[in-house]
Amino acid sequence: MDHPLPPWKEFVELSATQKASYLKDKNGKLKHICYSQQFDRHFLDHICELTTTLRTEIKTLCGLPRISTALFDKQAMLYFNQPSTRTFLSFQSACHKLGMGTSEIRDPNVSSEVKGESQSDSIRTFSSYFDVIITRHSCPNFADLCAWTLLNSGRPIPVINGGSGKDQHPTQALLDIYTLQRSFEDRGGIDGKKIMMVGDLKRGRTVRSLAELMRHYEDVTLVFAAPEEFQMETDVKDQLTQAGVPWIETTDIHTHLSEVDAVYMTRIQDEHDAGSGHSKKFYHELSIGVEEMAILKSDAVVMHPFPRRQEISTEVDSDPRSVYWRQMRNGMWVRSALLMYLFDRDPN
Ligand code: NCD
Repeated sequence: MDHPLPPWKEFVELSATQKASYLKDKNGKLKHICYSQQFDRHFLDHICELTTTLRTEIKTLCGLPRISTALFDKQAMLYFNQPSTRTFLSFQSACHKLGMGTSEIRDPNVSSEVKGESQSDSIRTFSSYFDVIITRHSCPNFADLCAWTLLNSGRPIPVINGGSGKDQHPTQALLDIYTLQRSFEDRGGIDGKKIMMVGDLKRGRTVRSLAELMRHYEDVTLVFAAPEEFQMETDVKDQLTQAGVPWIETTDIHTHLSEVDAVYMTRIQDEHDAGSGHSKKFYHELSIGVEEMAILKSDAVVMHPFPRRQEISTEVDSDPRSVYWRQMRNGMWVRSALLMYLFDRDPN
């Protein structure tokens, strides 16, 4: 960063792309991971390559001791104020696989926030004891606030956004890219593929962050299958249009099912219903079962960030095209690669 950091009130109003310029060093290396808009194709390819290296090297006799002590001198703070199973556990096991220590706050009621401590003071406190803050927060700008607070402090340790509000889930997008790339490695990678995103695209941060990354791949087409009121928001569609990525909208999963290379299922995010239970009626509308699998191409893949409800029938779990369990495991390796990258311990 070679320009002064604006005050928080101005910073928070900047676009993700504008904010991104403060979140990297003068050589363009990312220092904080807050948005998928920070990633370019070079970074995506690099993280994928690093992930494969870690995954394979840890299985070798000389790779195991090297990788399992790679970050032995680092400590991570996992600060999650929203429910999480996979993101929390995969980050925690990624840290442990690399020899890092971890501490956690998952319930703000056990922190000094209940005594009225400001978020900024909590963040600065974490930075006094830890070397990285990994956070999930209900507030859409919380990861920015962490990064901004630390950039203003004398200890700008990296911040990683493990999901913020309805808006962003950049590390999920990285593991989704890795899963897509691995699935298509014998077929030219992600370039040229037709990818359908299904479910609550409006309030699903995973699909928002992933769709944004498609502009880095050649000739990709996106199909957004959602009930009208949960269709992808215009900000994402506008970015795709500007980048020349074609997208199609439909309310019926079947319209394009036979043409797509990947189906990315998501659940209805009814925690945002404010108790109305309004979106329950959509639970069954967009789902994949044995009948849908019969229509899907023989080399297509089905993904899901989890947790799932009725969107994917457990009957299709054993179908080789269902890659969501592998996708989940990839999360641990991709997050390990990201930590190695952020601490400049990149073996590549
Ligand atoms: C997602 C999330 O929290 O956004 N889960 C995850 O991180 N794997 C998806 C969801 O909750 O539906």
